[in-house]
Amino acid sequence: MMAKTKGKVLVTGGAGFIGSNIVDLLIEKGYDVVIVDNLVTGNKENISKKAKFYDVDITGQGLKDVFEKEKPDFVIHEAAQINVRKSVEDPMFDANSNVIGTINVLECCRRSGVKKILYSSSGGACYGEPEYMPCDEKHPVHPICPYGASKYAAEQYFFLYNFLYRIDYTILRYANVYGPRQDPKGEAGVISIFLDRISKGQVPVINGDGRQTRDFVYVGDVARANLLALEKSTKSRIFNIGFGKETSVNQIYSEIKKATKSGIDARHGQAIPGEVYRIYLYAGLAKKELGWKPGVVLSEGIKKTAEWFNSAIGGKNMGGKNGQ
Ligand SMILES: NC(=O)c1ccc[n+]([C@@H]2O[C@H](COP(=O)([O-])OP(=O)(O)OC[C@H]3O[C@@H](n4cnc5c(N)ncnc54)[C@H](O)[C@@H]3O)[C@@H](O)[C@H]2O)c1
Repeated sequence: MMAKTKGKVLVTGGAGFIGSNIVDLLIEKGYDVVIVDNLVTGNKENISKKAKFYDVDITGQGLKDVFEKEKPDFVIHEAAQINVRKSVEDPMFDANSNVIGTINVLECCRRSGVKKILYSSSGGACYGEPEYMPCDEKHPVHPICPYGASKYAAEQYFFLYNFLYRIDYTILRYANVYGPRQDPKGEAGVISIFLDRISKGQVPVINGDGRQTRDFVYVGDVARANLLALEKSTKSRIFNIGFGKETSVNQIYSEIKKATKSGIDARHGQAIPGEVYRIYLYAGLAKKELGWKPGVVLSEGIKKTAEWFNSAIGGKNMGGKNGQ
């Protein structure tokens, strides 16, 4: 007889950076996992062999068929258009993925009687240029790019579907997530972009003066926050998930140089419109209600990420297996 699992979780975006790390943790903890991903930025190599995979777009009709067939107990909604610059260039595409796609996911949850859904929102993009720091969940929401607006608009539907249909939900507003599997081809992950450049012997470009700050949180800690949110009932619905420390991009680059023993100096380029200048989050509510706190400090997380680059990609200038 097959061992009973803790339930079936459908993870949208489970072939992506954060989603695939969540999938691995869920499987380790005894859940059955179904992944829905159209591989637009996701990677087949990220997909756990122990999960069932559907190459399906969350904005289309195919999603309904997956829900009807799989009847998941829980949903973790990670799939999204995540590129700030792209959202400025093509806000319709961004809103279609992030708002219409989310409504489609919620409609499927409603029809198939999903017990609980988690949503990955963005602290960095929703709060906009902070009025005070660290930003807690009560900080006013003033996105300064379409991506932030679409992530926040989607949040409203979770409240609505709970109000109308009693669907249980938790929203996690992530800070800047980094770690193994982050795609350096995008522009969201400055740590993986820098590591990628260094591994190729290229000069990394720091956008603007590099004094802009972010709150960097390790992907393993984010996956753990999702697991806790899935399993715990909480009074609050929205939680910041961040390290709670402000780090400049210049500081990040010097940590990376240290971890990789690289002698390459970065050069400075243009700042990106739509990106906030300074931000970091207060995650005290997640600590209080979810029992979550970040465990991986930046120097350790950068080391882990560099090691992954080394083994997965073969860092040429980091002493990797394909390097000299
Ligand atoms: N990376 C960060 O720092 C960060 C910060 C805040 C919030 N988030 C949120 O976390 C989630 C995951 O982000 P990530 O960094 O892992 O990005 P990612 O691009 O690696 O993952 C997104 C995944 O969704 C899939 N996807 C995109 N559009 C889809 C569609 N229409 N149908 C089906 N699949 C689709 C992609 O193929 C990819 O696998 C996103 O919702 C993002 O908004 C990320």
